[in-house]
Parts: sequence; structure tokens; C-alpha cells
Amino acid sequence: MYNRLMKEQIDSTRLPQHIAIIMDGNGRWAQKNGMERYMGHQEGAVSVRKVVEAAGEIGIKYLTLYAFSTENWNRPKEEVDALMALLITTIQRETGDLMKNNVRLQAIGDIERLPEASKSELHWCLNETSKNTGLTLVLALSYSSRWEITKAVHDIAQAVKENRLHLEEIDEALIDKSLTTKNIPDPDLLIRTGGEHRISNYLLWQLAYAELYFTPTYWPEFRENSLFEAIVDYQKRERRFGKTGEQIQSEK
Ligand code: IPE
Ligand code: IPE
Ligand code: MG
Repeated sequence: MYNRLMKEQIDSTRLPQHIAIIMDGNGRWAQKNGMERYMGHQEGAVSVRKVVEAAGEIGIKYLTLYAFSTENWNRPKEEVDALMALLITTIQRETGDLMKNNVRLQAIGDIERLPEASKSELHWCLNETSKNTGLTLVLALSYSSRWEITKAVHDIAQAVKENRLHLEEIDEALIDKSLTTKNIPDPDLLIRTGGEHRISNYLLWQLAYAELYFTPTYWPEFRENSLFEAIVDYQKRERRFGKTGEQIQSEK
């Protein structure tokens, strides 16, 4: 059970519309507890369930979770295999609750690189939940920002080459639309667990004006209350978007 006091500190009129999370620290959590790394990922899947439920419950509209990066393909094969298998079991176990909680699943990343079984399970769940209207849960899988931006540049150049697009039409809105996150608003809040202070190739374009929140808590220990704490911290900040504090105050 989480701490109701922390939840009650959240101002429901000023929620971040979109929270992005770098779920880090599974391996170190497992090591700390004398377990194999994959067990850290398993426990991390429990945190995913709790955080998704809590986010939906308080009315967050978009939650994007970094589940597997392009660079993570370079991990030892056993670990990659364990993560791909975990994707399947997690989808099988959680889709019922996603339906019950009205959560729509989306995926961003180079999904084609996933093994066939993981891919088909994912596609099944994407389809199954596609009509849900509550929280949109975006899984970043085989994702990296540089992969995504490179692909967008390629698509735009192709359109110009084929005369489907004029150079003058290339603006920020078109670039937004060319990314895998099209139709998803930029994150307001980025959370990274596990103590590192870096972005690790995540949503580089989209995070331009996100508030950054770093916590030493390992992902398997990051539960509902930790999410509420991050939101309370976010709500104490003044987002200025390049303006002065006085301007922001007078706009209120
Ligand atoms: C995050 O935890 C999960 C993935 C990157 C898939 P890690 O596996 O990176 O855990 P640490 O950073 O080694 O503790
Ligand atoms: C970032 O974590 C990727 C995910 C959480 C999926 P990593 O553990 O891979 O990041 P680095 O390598 O420490 O930067
Ligand atoms: Mg890590």
C-alpha cells in the first residue's frame, strides 16, 4: 500500500500530461540482493505494473517507458534473450489489467528487430488495447533517439527527392510528425532511476523542455509512492520556456 499523504500532495489541476521514464538499475538491484541480473528485470516488471496503474489512476495521459535501447542489443545474448522472453510473459500477464484499466499500448522503436515471438505478442496487445481511451502507455523498444532522427531525416529527404515535399515546408512541426512519437505530446517530466545522470539516447528532440528528475532508487524499488514524489517535485518548479520569471507570473 502506498503512502496516501504523498498522493494527496499532488495538485490534480497541474499534472504533467506526459511522463517519460528511463527505468534503470535492475541489474544493480539484483546484484545488491545476491540475485542474477534477469531477476532484477523480473522485479522491474512489477514496478512497471504498479507505476502504470498509479499513473492511470491519478489521470496522467501519456507514460513512455524506456524498456530496451538500440545499444542494449550489445548486451550478452542470455540477457537479451531473457528480456525478450520477459516482454512476452509480461504482455500475457498484464493485458487483462490493461483492458480493465482502459490503458492503450503503443510502441516506438525499431520493432522489426525484435524476435518473431516477441513481435507478434506485442502486435497482438497493441491491437487488443487500441480502442482504450485512458492512459496511453508507450513502450520504447529497440529504441534510440539517434535511430529515430536518422530515420526521420531519411524519410524527409526521400519525400523532397520525389517532389512530394518542398524544402520550405520543412519546419519543426514536420519534424515532429516524422518521428515515431508523432501525435504524442512532448514529455513534461523525465524521470531516471538508478542514480545515473544521463539521457542515454532517449527522446533527445522531444525532451527539449522537459523537467528532469533523477533518483538513486533502483527501478525495481521505484513504486507508486516514488512516482507521486517525482510529480510533487515537478509541481514545485517554474517552467519558463525561455521567458523571465516575471513574465510567467503575470501570465497566471
Ligand atoms: C535497466 O536496468 C533495464 C534495461 C536497460 C533493459 P539495467 O539492466 O541497465 O540495470 P543496471 O544499470 O545494470 O543496474
Ligand atoms: C538505458 O539504460 C536504457 C533503458 C533503461 C532501457 P542503460 O543501462 O542501458 O543506460 P547506460 O548504458 O547506463 O547509459
Ligand atoms: Mg543500466
